[in-house]
Amino acid sequence: MGEASPAARRGFFITLEGGEGAGKSTQQLILLKRLRDMGLRAQGSREPGATPLGVELRALLIELAHEAPSQRTELLLYLADRAQHVERHLAPLLEQPMVVVCDRFADSSEVYQGRARGLGWEWVRQLNRWVCGDLWPDLTILLDLDPALGLKRVLQRQGGLGLLPDRLEAQGLEFHRAVRQGFLDQAAAEPGRWLVVDAGQGPEAVAGVLWGLVEPRVVAWKAGLDAA
Ligand code: TMP
Repeated sequence: MGEASPAARRGFFITLEGGEGAGKSTQQLILLKRLRDMGLRAQGSREPGATPLGVELRALLIELAHEAPSQRTELLLYLADRAQHVERHLAPLLEQPMVVVCDRFADSSEVYQGRARGLGWEWVRQLNRWVCGDLWPDLTILLDLDPALGLKRVLQRQGGLGLLPDRLEAQGLEFHRAVRQGFLDQAAAEPGRWLVVDAGQGPEAVAGVLWGLVEPRVVAWKAGLDAA
């Protein structure tokens, strides 16, 4: 599968997913600290925008000052960001015995563009498979939150910083309800890969629940690595 396939996959790949204001970046930081406290090598990443090219693509995608992309263009730009991220950044990292925790990944395209925009999640899955090759998450955590609450958190945060909402945040509540349902459907279809966490509590409580679910999976991965 060309550049997208790591030579040998020794790392453990966790992705964090959810709607706006679900607390993914806060939980990513707490999770990385707990993993490092266990003595593991752990690194964070994000989509869109983890590579220099991705930073440019992120601005084109989400800043309202740029021309609005058509639905297909939007999908292709997210996929372009992912291809660059997988081939240049994630694949080399995951050849190493380390944990990578990524804030959004392939499921975001399947939910936002595939389900909520209506392009079809199965079609987006096929494209994701082409872009990602074998590099697929071992574990995906859904931070599930009522979008009315999530958008309120985002608008408060943006307002406090004097910022305007971005292109996706500016979509109506119906769109964000479709995103929430889309993630729940995505998780229900692949229960072995997904963990669903109620993100409506405070960050410490969410982090506690999340760690209780993630730690055994990481311990099992490490044991397999040590035995190999
Ligand atoms: P962020 O707010 O988590 O940084 O993500 C930026 C926006 O990009 C968010 O509203 C969700 C959206 N997005 C998609 O629509 N499709 C994708 O594939 C990804 C990775 C993000």
